[in-house]
Amino acid sequence: MRVDATPSNLTRPKPAKRFLTTKPQRLKRATVGAVTVVLLSGLACYWLAFIRVTNGGLTFENELHIPDQLFGTVVDGHRQLHLTVAEGSREFLPGKQTPTAGVNAPYLGPTVRLRRGEDVDLIVQNNLDEMTTMHWHGMHVPARMDGTPHQKIEPGESWTASFRVHQQAAPLWYHPHPHGATGRQVYRGVSGLMWIDDENSDALDLPKTYGVDDIPIVIQDRQFDDDGAFRFAVNQGAVYGNTMLVNGTWNPFLQVESRRIRFRLLNGSNARIYYIGFEDNRRFHLIATDGGFLETPIPANRVILAPGERAEILVDFSDGAEVVLKSYPEAGSLETIQSFVGGIGTGNLQLLKIVPTPADRASHPLPERLNSISRIDPSLAANTRPMVLAGPIQGGRGGGRGGRRGRGGGPLGPPINGKIMDMARIDEVVRLGDIEIWEVSNRGGQPHPFHVHLVQFQILDRNGRPPSAAELGWKDTVLVPPGDLVRIIMPFERYADQEVPYMYHCHIMEHEDNGMMGQFLVVEDPEQLSSHTNHLLGPS
Ligand code: C2O
Ligand code: CU
Ligand code: CU
Repeated sequence: MRVDATPSNLTRPKPAKRFLTTKPQRLKRATVGAVTVVLLSGLACYWLAFIRVTNGGLTFENELHIPDQLFGTVVDGHRQLHLTVAEGSREFLPGKQTPTAGVNAPYLGPTVRLRRGEDVDLIVQNNLDEMTTMHWHGMHVPARMDGTPHQKIEPGESWTASFRVHQQAAPLWYHPHPHGATGRQVYRGVSGLMWIDDENSDALDLPKTYGVDDIPIVIQDRQFDDDGAFRFAVNQGAVYGNTMLVNGTWNPFLQVESRRIRFRLLNGSNARIYYIGFEDNRRFHLIATDGGFLETPIPANRVILAPGERAEILVDFSDGAEVVLKSYPEAGSLETIQSFVGGIGTGNLQLLKIVPTPADRASHPLPERLNSISRIDPSLAANTRPMVLAGPIQGGRGGGRGGRRGRGGGPLGPPINGKIMDMARIDEVVRLGDIEIWEVSNRGGQPHPFHVHLVQFQILDRNGRPPSAAELGWKDTVLVPPGDLVRIIMPFERYADQEVPYMYHCHIMEHEDNGMMGQFLVVEDPEQLSSHTNHLLGPS
C-alpha cells in the first residue's frame, strides 16, 4: 500500500497562502471528527517536536559574522579568484572547539562577487584529505565548468572553472558536489555566497554597502556533540540539527542603522525548510529570488526557503525597535504538523536579533520597479518531460521513502522517474536552443526541493493554479510538497556538450547523496547522439 502517494486536499495548501502570507494561516474547514483526531495527535507530536526543534531563549550575545568578500584580481582580462578548501576549527559554542572545513576560512567561504559580461577563472585548491568538487549553484556555465560529481578535485590538487558570466544580477552560491559526500562536506562548513551584479543592479537605488545595509544571511542547522564536534546524524533520511547558525555564528545579533536594510537569505542547510519572518510579524518586501530581481517588490511577512533556495528582502527598521528574525512553524497544514514528528519541521527557531542604531543617512526608497521579466509562452516549448519524485523504484516496489536498503546494503534515497542516480547513465537529452517544460510531481510523503543545473526557470503553475507573486521570478530550485505537481519552463540557450552532463536533483543533500539525482546532456542534435553515450561517460 502506498500511503504516501495519496494526495488529499487537506495536505495541499493554496500556493498563494503557502508561499506568501500576509495573514495568520488557519486550518481549512474539514470534517470535524476525523480532523479532531488527527489534530490532537498532530498537536501531541507538535509539542514533542517543538521541544526538540525549538531554540527559543537565545540571548543573542555574539556579533553576526560577515564573511569576507572575494573580488579576485584581473589578469589578462580574466578575473581570477582563488578558493582553497581546507579543514579548520572554530569556536561556535562557548569554550568548545569544533573541527570544521571551509573555503579560505575555517567555516563557510568568502562572498564571491562577479559581474555580468566578465570572464572569470575560479581556481579551487583542495586541501582536504578527501576528493571534492565545487559547484556554482545557479550559474549558467558549460557542463565541464559546473563542478558536478564529474569534475573531481583529488586531495592536494586544484581545478579551474573558466567561463563568462552571462546572467543577470542574482544571489547565487557555491558548494561541493562529490556524489555521496555533498551533505557531509557542506555540513562541515564548505559553501559560500556568489553574488552577481549587472547594469540593472548598479542602477537600482537599493542598499548595497556589504555588511552595513546589504547583509548576507546564511541559515544552517547543526547538531553538536558534548565535546563541540558537529554531529552528522541521519534522521528520517536526512540530517537535521537542533542548533541554529547564521553565517556560522551561534546566538547572533546584528546592529544595523534604523532604516531600510537588505537581507540576502540563503538556506544553506542540508535538509531543513524554513518559514522565515520576524517575531513582531512585521511586513517586509521580497525583491529577488534564486535567479534575480522580481519585477516589483512583493509585500510579505513570511518567506519559505527550502535547502538551496535564496531570497532577498528589504526590511524597514526605522522604528528603531529590536526584533528577532526567526523560522515559524508552517501552521495551517496537516502535512506540516506531521512533519514535526521527529523534529524535522520548519520549527520555532530564533535566528538573529536585529539591533537598530541611529541612522547616518536617509532610508533608501522602496523601488517601484526592479526588473522586467517576460513570461515564457508555454506554447513555445518543444518538449515536455515528467519528473516524478519519489515514485516507485524501477524494477521494484516501494513508495519512495528514504532509508530503504539498496542491493549492496547501502541506503537508497527516493528516486526520480523510478531511477536512482548512476554517474555512468544519461537520463535525459535536451536539444540546444529548445524551450522545455518539466512537470515535477511529488508522489512521496515529504517535500522535495527540485533543482536544475545550468538554467534559471519560470514556474508555470502549481497544481494547475498560477504561481503566487513570490514565485513569478527566475528560480533554479523549487519546493514541491507531497502530492503537488509543479510545471516549470526553461530555455536551454547555451553550452552543448556531447559527453559531460548536468544534474537535476532534490536539494535535500542526503536525498541527493543517496541517489535522488539524474543527469542530462545538452546537445546540438539529439538524433545524432550515438548510443554509446554511456560508454563516453565511462565508469566513475
Ligand atoms: Cu546546489 Cu546540484 O546543487
Ligand atoms: Cu546547482
Ligand atoms: Cu528530497
